[in-house]
Amino acid sequence: MVEHVCEKCEKVFKQKSQLDAHKNRKKPCKKDDTIEKIVERKVEEILSRVDTKQKPSPTFIEVCAGCGGLSTGFMEAGFEPILLNEINPKFCETLSRNHPGVRIENKDMLALNLTEFNGRVDVLMGGVPCQAFSQAGERMGLEDPRGKLIVEFNRLVLECNPKVILVENVKGLTTHNGGETLKGVIELFKNGGKYNLQTKVLNAKDYDVPQKRERIFIVGVRSDIGRAFEYPVPSKTNVLLRDVLVDVPPSIGAKYPESKKAVFDLVPPGGCWVDLPDDVKRSYMGERCLSSGGGKRGIARRMSMDEHCLTLTTSPCQKQTDRCHPLETRPFTVREYARIQTFPDTYVFLGGMSDQYKQIGNAVPVKLANAVAHQVKSVLSSA
Ligand SMILES: C[S@@+](CC[C@H](N)C(=O)[O-])C[C@H]1O[C@@H](n2cnc3c(N)ncnc32)[C@H](O)[C@@H]1O
Repeated sequence: MVEHVCEKCEKVFKQKSQLDAHKNRKKPCKKDDTIEKIVERKVEEILSRVDTKQKPSPTFIEVCAGCGGLSTGFMEAGFEPILLNEINPKFCETLSRNHPGVRIENKDMLALNLTEFNGRVDVLMGGVPCQAFSQAGERMGLEDPRGKLIVEFNRLVLECNPKVILVENVKGLTTHNGGETLKGVIELFKNGGKYNLQTKVLNAKDYDVPQKRERIFIVGVRSDIGRAFEYPVPSKTNVLLRDVLVDVPPSIGAKYPESKKAVFDLVPPGGCWVDLPDDVKRSYMGERCLSSGGGKRGIARRMSMDEHCLTLTTSPCQKQTDRCHPLETRPFTVREYARIQTFPDTYVFLGGMSDQYKQIGNAVPVKLANAVAHQVKSVLSSA
């Protein structure tokens, strides 16, 4: 269900009209800073444990945290968050709701200053935006202002001096500009030998996630730690859509227009546009698209229960990346999206429907994040 939150006092309303009435009342609401004070005390308590070396759990900061897929995987592995930063206020609401007591900064990471955490945080990580590197995007790399955020991330590394740095990005980074962009990023993060860098593309399906989703994980371990990071070994189990599309809690979800539904009704589980009758194929795909070559197997794609879902995107019904539900003719609902990204059913996503799909579609699957987190933890346990 969509919830509407007052940015001032953080009161939650079920209907937008209630929020509007609340905002328009004669006596304006006041910011309740009780929560902020509790959060501040909690952060101080963690830092004082760090400073006095009574530190039972490893700590992390995440910038560009989205709705918290990566962070949740780390928390589930026993890490304590010191700070989560995210520029989108709706996504911050999601973070606050699911991680009460955690310090959340709703600002551009360019405006962050992490010097107060110098030497006091184990891991600095970030789902630093990938649009500039995305294979689907314009591939302008470091020329794109969003690509430059990588450089800003490195400034934050130097400010807080973490033992481990971790950046997750799209697989397209490996081939961007003939591999030169990734080489540049690695050189940057090495900081003249201060960090030892490793990179690997991991596929979420190998870590109990019912989805093919390839992402590069760039990991740097501070040289004085004297231990190499090892990427998680693939799990022995194989989780498929049929394992997660059971008893999914009801939720909002996008719908196909009638004309599109009529087309998808003709596609069997596991099939796509090639399974359509010729006349429907021609009218749905268009002559130009049909003669343009390439498999285009993502178009008019209906998933099968016996496979891994294709990579979820931030919008569930785009012509090039449709993934129709295996048994019903509709896109996956928000809660099905969350299941496929391995979020717990208790994880709440705030904002309107498209905000919710966007947050989930952008996230690192929690189980993949968790597998990586355990490996980071083992590097730190010897530090
Ligand atoms: C790929 S998503 C991160 C997903 C996240 N790691 C997760 O697992 O849920 C990237 C996020 O970076 C945020 N972002 C983009 N530019 C930013 C900036 N300049 N400062 C802070 N956050 C930013 C976006 O709003 C988006 O939520």
